[in-house]
Amino acid sequence: MWKGRFSQPTSELVQRYGESVSFDWRLYAHDVRGSIAQSKALLAAGIIDATEQAAIERGLLEIKAEIADGKFEWKPALEDVHMNIEAELTKRIGSAGAKLHTARSRNDQVALDVRLYCRDEVDEIIGLIKTLQRALIEAAERGEGAIMPGYTHLQRGQPVLFAHHLLAYVEMLGRDTARLTDARTRVNVMPLGSGALAGSTIILDRALVAKELDFPAITQNSMDAVSDRDFVAELLFAIALCGVHLSRLSEDVILWATAEFGFVTLSDAHTTGSSLMPQKKNPDVAELTRGKSGRLVGNLMALLTLLKGLPMTYNRDMQEDKEPLFDSIDTIKSALAVFAEMVSGMEVRAERTKAAASDPMLLATDLADYLVKHGVPFRQAHEIIGKLVAFSLSEGRGFADLQLTEYQQFWSGFDSSLYQVLKLDTALAARQSVGAPSPANVAAQLHRWREILSA
Ligand code: ARG
Repeated sequence: MWKGRFSQPTSELVQRYGESVSFDWRLYAHDVRGSIAQSKALLAAGIIDATEQAAIERGLLEIKAEIADGKFEWKPALEDVHMNIEAELTKRIGSAGAKLHTARSRNDQVALDVRLYCRDEVDEIIGLIKTLQRALIEAAERGEGAIMPGYTHLQRGQPVLFAHHLLAYVEMLGRDTARLTDARTRVNVMPLGSGALAGSTIILDRALVAKELDFPAITQNSMDAVSDRDFVAELLFAIALCGVHLSRLSEDVILWATAEFGFVTLSDAHTTGSSLMPQKKNPDVAELTRGKSGRLVGNLMALLTLLKGLPMTYNRDMQEDKEPLFDSIDTIKSALAVFAEMVSGMEVRAERTKAAASDPMLLATDLADYLVKHGVPFRQAHEIIGKLVAFSLSEGRGFADLQLTEYQQFWSGFDSSLYQVLKLDTALAARQSVGAPSPANVAAQLHRWREILSA
């Protein structure tokens, strides 16, 4: 493509070092789509005629079909997807093909292709997030009524519903969708026409190209347009955080599936055995996802590090944006899909979660609240119940098994209504504030999410 100025061919090693077609070939459909829009702008500007434009369009669609069928021969010597397709087009249709790159550089071309690619992928990822949210809601509904301890510091804290715990992840995933949707608005800006860095003296109708490619906006600074990869960084962050959410869910599932917790069973289809220990049923899907989330964080770091030292405008370093981007997109898509399946096959063991939630200590806060409702300042109530906890532990008897007279040694105002507080169902139903896990609240949240997800 640049043989005019050079008298020596590119070294073999440099070719292999610099080629990107082995991974950026996957942009081919977007490259073809962008080039067809470019050809229409060239036609409108009178650079090519209608016959040439038709030949370009036909040729590109033919090439695209061959690539889709796996029949296209990629040439590493032609570096990237853009030059491979352009060279093949010119080989097939001659001079019309050679006119296609007028007023265009690979710098604005690659920026366009990556934006088109990201836009499609974001939509797919959002769809997969919704599928997982639905699976979580269904699992919550299957386990309706299952009470479990909620934890802080991985120590039993207060009773919650299993459904409330799963809905916490539905919320996180909802924010992931919101973040991706927001990032998409910055992906969705059309850079073609920025040329190498300073536009062109041949004026093409950029608005026409944008309309053709369904972009609501066009970039406003040619230098920024060819060197901007903020939208990639934003996507990698949104994906990494989504991966971190999946990793936290993984950790919960892994704990729940242990003999020690025994809170859930996973289906045989989503667990694996051991080659040595016949009894094993391992939660590999969750472990792999916890592991893969590290890659997602790493990809974000790789991109930010790649960008931080770059002067204006395009620098070849930027070719290195693609592998982390592709890897994060592939990884999150497969993680979301496999997680939706695994969650669909996950059943809560309500008798086990209930047994754990029946630890009387989980209601220590409720007892303190009882004192507050009787006029005791909270800090004092906390201390009184703290002493009661110590007493209960030293006696080896739970709160329900302590006599009223024993309670009254810690605070004289206790009466027998305190035993009402110690009922798990009453305690849960009392958690009525907005966002708290009373069964009525949780049912309303399940309903709310069903509505959101069916919209
Ligand atoms: N393959 C290149 C990339 O992904 C395309 C842009 C190349 N531009 C250039 N001036 N060498 O960044």
